[in-house]
Parts: sequence; C-alpha cells; structure tokens
Amino acid sequence: MKTAVKLIGGIVILLVIAGAALATFVHLGHPPTYETLALELAIESTPERVARGKVLASAICLGCHMDPVTQKVTGKHMSDTPPEFGAIYSKNITRHPEKGIGSWTDGELAYLLRTGVGRDGVYVPPYMVKLPHMSDEDLASILAFLRSDDPLVAPEAVDPPGVTRPSFLTKLLTRLVFAPIPYPDAPVVDPPPDDEVALGRYLVVNLDCFSCHSEDFKTTNVEHPEETPGYLGGGNPLLGLSGETVFSANLTPHETTGIGSWSRDEFVRAVREGFRPDNTPILYPMAPMPELSEAEVGAMYTYLRSVPVIARAVPKRERPTRAEQDEGERHYYYYGCYSCHGDDGLGIADLRRAASKFPSDAELRRWVEDPSTIRPGTKMPTWRGVIREEHYAPLIAHVRRLGEQAALAKPE
Ligand code: HEC
Ligand code: HEC
Ligand code: HEC
Repeated sequence: MKTAVKLIGGIVILLVIAGAALATFVHLGHPPTYETLALELAIESTPERVARGKVLASAICLGCHMDPVTQKVTGKHMSDTPPEFGAIYSKNITRHPEKGIGSWTDGELAYLLRTGVGRDGVYVPPYMVKLPHMSDEDLASILAFLRSDDPLVAPEAVDPPGVTRPSFLTKLLTRLVFAPIPYPDAPVVDPPPDDEVALGRYLVVNLDCFSCHSEDFKTTNVEHPEETPGYLGGGNPLLGLSGETVFSANLTPHETTGIGSWSRDEFVRAVREGFRPDNTPILYPMAPMPELSEAEVGAMYTYLRSVPVIARAVPKRERPTRAEQDEGERHYYYYGCYSCHGDDGLGIADLRRAASKFPSDAELRRWVEDPSTIRPGTKMPTWRGVIREEHYAPLIAHVRRLGEQAALAKPE
C-alpha cells in the first residue's frame, strides 16, 4: 500500500517537473521554424493584374497593415487582437528594400501568403492571413500590386511602432495546434465565371470572411474552411478599438438570427457601404469594401444562401462605457464614429487633422456626408441620409475638438 502511494506520488512529481520544463521551453524558446521551399516564381506585371491586386489587397491586407496616421502600409499595433495572443504588430509591406518587403522574392512572398511560413522559416500565427485556396492568378495579382508604383506601396523607410511578442498561449498553440499550411501541389484555378455559388464561396473563403464570421479564431480551419466549427454562424468575440467586445454576425440564411430575410441589394449595400437594411452602421472590425463589384458581392450573397443554417443569436456589440460630455460626443458614439476613429480621433484612421484640412464647417460636413466623391474608393462610409440634419453641427464641433485636443497634447 505504502509503495503504491509512493509510486503514484513519484509519478505526479515527475509529471509536474515535465510540465514545468515544457512550459519553460515553450515560453523562453523561439517559435518553431520550418523549411521553406525555394519557389522559382517570376510574376509578370500587367496593368490588369495590378488593378485586380489592388482590389484584393484593399479587401484583405490593408486593414491590418495600414498606419492610422499616415495611411501607408508601414505596419501598426494590432490593438484589436485578443490580448491572450500577446502584443502583435503588423509589418511594413511597402516596397522599401530594408524596412519593407522590397528585397523579398516573389517565391518568398507567395510561400508566406500560402503557408504562413516567412522567409526566415518562422510560422506566423493566426493573426496573419493565409491564402492556400487563392487562385494562382489572383495571388500573382496581389504580388504585382505589391511591386507596383501605386502610391500605397511606395517605399517608406519606417518601422512599425513595435515588434510582435507572442504570448505563452500563442507559442503553445504554434507548437501543438497551428501548423503551416502545405503549399498546394497542383495549380489553383479561378472559379468558373458562370457559377455564382462557386464564385461566392471562393470570395467568402479568400477574403477571409469565414474566419471572422465563424465561432472562434482558435478553431479556424484554414485548409478545410467548411469544417470550421460554427461555419459562418458568427459569434466570434472580436475586440473593438476601445477594448469592447464586438461579436461577428451570423451570415447563414437563418430567418431571424442570420441574414435570411435580407435581399440581395441589402446585402450588397451592407458589404460595400457598411450599413444594414435599417440604416445602422456595421462597425469595425468589419470594414466596408467599396472596391468589390456588385456582381462579386451578389455572388457571395447567393453562396451564403446555400450554406447550412445555424440558429445562433449573436449578442449585440458592447458600447464603450464612457461618460459622454456633450451632444456632439453623444452623436460621435451613437453613429459609431468611435469604432473606426477611437475615443480620441485616432483609431484606424486619424481624423484629428480634419479641422485644418477642411477649414470651414461646410467642407467638413461635405466630407462626412459623402467622402467618396472627394476621395473615390475611400473606406470612410457615406453618411448622407443616415445622420439626422440637426446632428451635423454638434458632431462636427466634436470632430474639431478632437483635433484641438490632439494639438494641445503635442509638445511642439
Ligand atoms: C489579420 C491581419 C493581417 C492581414 C489580413 C494581413 N496581414 Fe500581413 N501580417 C500581419 C501581422 C500581424 C504580421 C507580422 C507577424 C509577426 O510579426 O509575427 C504580418 C506580416 C506580413 C508579412 C511579413 C513581412 C516581414 O517583413 O516579415 C508580409 C509580407 C505580409 N504580412 C503581407 C500581407 C499581405 C500581402 C496581405 C494580404 C494578402 C496581408 N499581409 C494580410 C497581419 C495581417
Ligand atoms: C475582421 C473580421 C471580419 C471580416 C474579415 C469580415 N467581417 Fe463581417 N463582420 C464582422 C463583425 C465584427 C461584424 C459585426 C459588426 C457590428 O456589430 O457592427 C460583421 C458584420 C457583418 C455584416 C452585417 C450582418 C448583420 O446581421 O449585422 C455582414 C453582412 C458582413 N459582416 C459580411 C461580411 C463579408 C461578406 C465578409 C467578407 C467579404 C466579411 N463580413 C468579413 C467582422 C468581420
Ligand atoms: C467603418 C469605419 C469608419 C467609420 C464608422 C467612420 N469613419 Fe471616418 N474615416 C474612416 C477612414 C478609413 C478614413 C480615412 C479615409 C481616407 O483617407 O480615404 C476616415 C476619415 C474621416 C475624416 C477625414 C480625416 C482626414 O484627415 O482626411 C473625418 C472628418 C471622419 N472620417 C469623420 C467621421 C465621422 C464624423 C464619423 C461618424 C459619423 C466617421 N468618420 C465614421 C473610416 C470610418
């Protein structure tokens, strides 16, 4: 009896020591590295590819790589990544040879984008998108765009504001659960142009709608998207810029908890312009995608009507708990400006210089009402018809005040 107790005690102690050793190894150790394939790729650049690549990059990459102040793709703090993953910073992906990706070969970029393994062999955990299902032609277009003379990717000698420090959990998951995606061993072709459902699926998968809109990032199945738990049923708890929880929406055709009652036109407006049928704004981290064509968004609609229905009522997004000072600030929160511009006007796009860029209230109002006529293709939503007439003046006063507060806070 005594020996048995001792034996069990001994085993328990050994397990504890082994567990602690594993934890220390994972914690202190570098992330695992993998072999990379030396791909012989030389992407030919054509104007068509650059244009197509810009659309895809605008829909997929820019949100994560855009500096909020300069609106250049020089990297930023991903403040909306759940803190359990650690401190995450995206990188400078301009054409700059040292600070950016100017010295990466096409093969290295393609390998990273498909598998998640960078040219140093390090696997980027779930916070960087992976595109194993994107057609060779579309991938070539993204590369052609990244190499192009478009001002968005013009070389910028700027470092991101910090370096990624993955948490223990991320390191553990990269050792035990997440694995690089195998590089496709056969050509990946475009979906047939006359098959709407196939085109819709292709876009829902490759524009990464499914990973935000399924149950949880920790269970996203990149290789077999449909096997992701709660596929497109929403409820993934994401973070807003004020640290508030924002649940992704149920995109399955369930009549009340999903988008089963939406018309095609309503869906197209929602995705391209950022408003639901009832005129409420669809807020960050969802972003309007005006770069997609009506036909493309329509195809996604058709596909979404064909996926298995999930009855899942997604909780409403949390409102940041802030004591609003006056009427203007109240509208700033009511209309959801805070969700993209943060509490202080910075957020994902800095509006604090708007006061000097648009000197008169009429000009500033014109921007807020219809920014796409001033800057075509902008991701700032068009508020005409949504903001009530009497709300403009106080709202604009608040935008100006955010600019003044930022100027006061600066030492210069
Ligand atoms: C969900 C956010 C997210 C999206 C979407 C995203 N990236 Fe990234 N990307 C990151 C983060 C974060 C890193 C840095 C990872 C790290 O430090 O471990 C990164 C790293 C990279 C790198 C490596 C750069 C280097 O110098 O190491 C390249 C290249 C890159 N991204 C290109 C792209 C392209 C092209 C797209 C669109 C097809 C894209 N990314 C979409 C978040 C994202
Ligand atoms: C970065 C994560 C993310 C990505 C990528 C994303 N979404 Fe969303 N989406 C969300 C979140 C979060 C919401 C809820 C926003 C809110 O509460 O205002 C949402 C809301 C929506 C809504 C409104 C639905 C409703 O019932 O309110 C639609 C439609 C939608 N997304 C479609 C798409 C499509 C189509 C794609 C791909 C092209 C996509 N989303 C990509 C996070 C994302
Ligand atoms: C879905 C995200 C989103 C929401 C919601 C949003 N904006 Fe914006 N806003 C942007 C983006 C992105 C830009 C940068 C546009 C560009 O440069 O093309 C911007 C730019 C601006 C600018 C101009 C800044 C400059 O320096 O040029 C102002 C002013 C502004 N927004 C005000 C508002 C107000 C007021 C609201 C609420 C009614 C609001 N925004 C809601 C995304 C958003």
